[in-house]
Amino acid sequence: MVADVAGSADKSRALALGAFHLGAFARRTRSQHQHRARLIGLADAGDDLRTRSLEIDVAHVHRMTQLRMVMEQTIDLGTFRAIKGSSGAIDKPVLQEEERITFHELQRPRHAAPGKDSVGLGPESHPVPSVFLCVWKDCDRISRHTMNDRVILPTPPPILKNQQQEIRELFQRFVVPSYGRFNLALSHGAGSHVWDVSGKRYLDLGGGIAVCSLGHAHPEITEALVEQSRRLVHVSNLYYQEPQGRLAQRLVGHLAPGKVFFCNSGAEANEGLFKTARKFGHDEGRFEILTAVNSFHGRTLGGISATGQEKVKKGFEPMVEGFRHIPFNDLEAARGAISPATAAILIEGIQGEGGITPASAEYLLGLRKLCDEKRLLLLLDAVQCGHFRSGRFQSYQRVLEGVAGAEGFSVDGISMAKSLGGGFPIGAFWLRDQAHGVELGQILGPGTHGTTFGGTPLGCAVALRILDVIEREKLADNVRTTGDFLHAEISRLAEQYPGVVRGARGLGFMLGIELQPFDQIPGFKREETVSSLQMVNRLHEAGVLTIPSGSQIVRLLPALNLSRTQAEEGLQLIEKVVRSVA
Ligand SMILES: Cc1ncc(COP(=O)(O)O)c(C=O)c1O
Repeated sequence: MVADVAGSADKSRALALGAFHLGAFARRTRSQHQHRARLIGLADAGDDLRTRSLEIDVAHVHRMTQLRMVMEQTIDLGTFRAIKGSSGAIDKPVLQEEERITFHELQRPRHAAPGKDSVGLGPESHPVPSVFLCVWKDCDRISRHTMNDRVILPTPPPILKNQQQEIRELFQRFVVPSYGRFNLALSHGAGSHVWDVSGKRYLDLGGGIAVCSLGHAHPEITEALVEQSRRLVHVSNLYYQEPQGRLAQRLVGHLAPGKVFFCNSGAEANEGLFKTARKFGHDEGRFEILTAVNSFHGRTLGGISATGQEKVKKGFEPMVEGFRHIPFNDLEAARGAISPATAAILIEGIQGEGGITPASAEYLLGLRKLCDEKRLLLLLDAVQCGHFRSGRFQSYQRVLEGVAGAEGFSVDGISMAKSLGGGFPIGAFWLRDQAHGVELGQILGPGTHGTTFGGTPLGCAVALRILDVIEREKLADNVRTTGDFLHAEISRLAEQYPGVVRGARGLGFMLGIELQPFDQIPGFKREETVSSLQMVNRLHEAGVLTIPSGSQIVRLLPALNLSRTQAEEGLQLIEKVVRSVA
């Protein structure tokens, strides 16, 4: 599918739309105008790809021969096969970084059978895509072109222009305004890329705040959802069902002997840990849980009471009794805070919302010893840092690698969510079978805890499939190597642009770019006082999604299958933005 769309040289962003399908050869149309918008590409799409778009870098394509050349090389863009490339027959590369065109899938072509028909262009024939494409690039006017007297570019529909505004208005009118949202309306994604409603593509390094473990629209997640939903979506926890049992088995296999309870979110998983701690200490009158300053444990009343940040509690007092906060990574402070009422210590393996701070090996080992000495449960909130995000299933497994005295280390309970379902809502907590002579795995007996949607066959089937993919594709290794690369490159940015970047934080794919305060960064606005927000907004403009954390940290929490090439793409864009404000 090829077209060449001529437009005027207007600088304004265009809404020009052109559509045609692969079966048609587009004849090059000469433009009298100095500037041309060019459209070229194809998507090899199955039935399920009707609402995708893709973006390809394409240079000036002036001649049909070049168009043909371009067709001869394919690249994979997630589930799309897009065509781009250079050819030996063309002296200079056809592709240029700067030439970026967005293709947007609108609807199925009328004349082609997706996946069946094919056209022979170049040495291979390509399946007819199930897409129509549109292009908008620096042109506000688009001509209709014909080939063999056939209209191949129908009149562009008046779409996209105000879609973002409309969506925002819906939110303003009908959605509780509890989130500070960025001015972005996203419509779809593929792999580590997402598109907004106007067709702009972003590299997603935020991963839905550490949720999209396999990126967007992963075909195996779709398959697991479809397959399981044909069989059984929900049955209630009054009955047994295989996916839940199998998922519990898999999770336990990555930890120590224990049991798993399934729920729907991170906050709910933590609630389960709180209740476990209370039950554990109950007969001795112990109920208190120590948590860390700067921690984050969710937005339920229990969650905000446990969270070591005042801002989440404000206006919702009184808090749930029994939580006290201790400085993170400070063993002596933990020891000093323990009272006769203390039943447990709960920490994040890597603090996320608090600014990407990993627990040190000494802290973990010291807490374990302290908890053993004082008969306390050591609990881990792994909602953000777990599920291979550190390069191991749990962050402590990575932090304690090769550390003397860490053999056989285990915590007593772990909460999980986020990456576990890759975007499908599922949470869980694991309890060690035995702790301090108590059968911890049995402590929540029949009738003590429950939730309607916990561990549905559908959610568990998805989580199982995600584990399959992570293991089969060795994504933990990818997280380590690509994460180390990103970390090293962020450190390089800090050396090169010390006036903007202070340093790199974190492990694996839970990384932080630590920035200077807003008033020390030359290119930052003085009226906006949060460095992280200013940077994240600028990164959006550049085409990268990241997540702010506190006032000076920009978090990278990408999909576990982010490739090295995508990491490089992200770094280039980040560096461009950093340079622009240095
Ligand atoms: C460490 C940690 N715990 C708990 C939560 C709460 O999880 P959820 O939003 O799924 O309730 C979060 C969410 O960001 C988190 O990062």
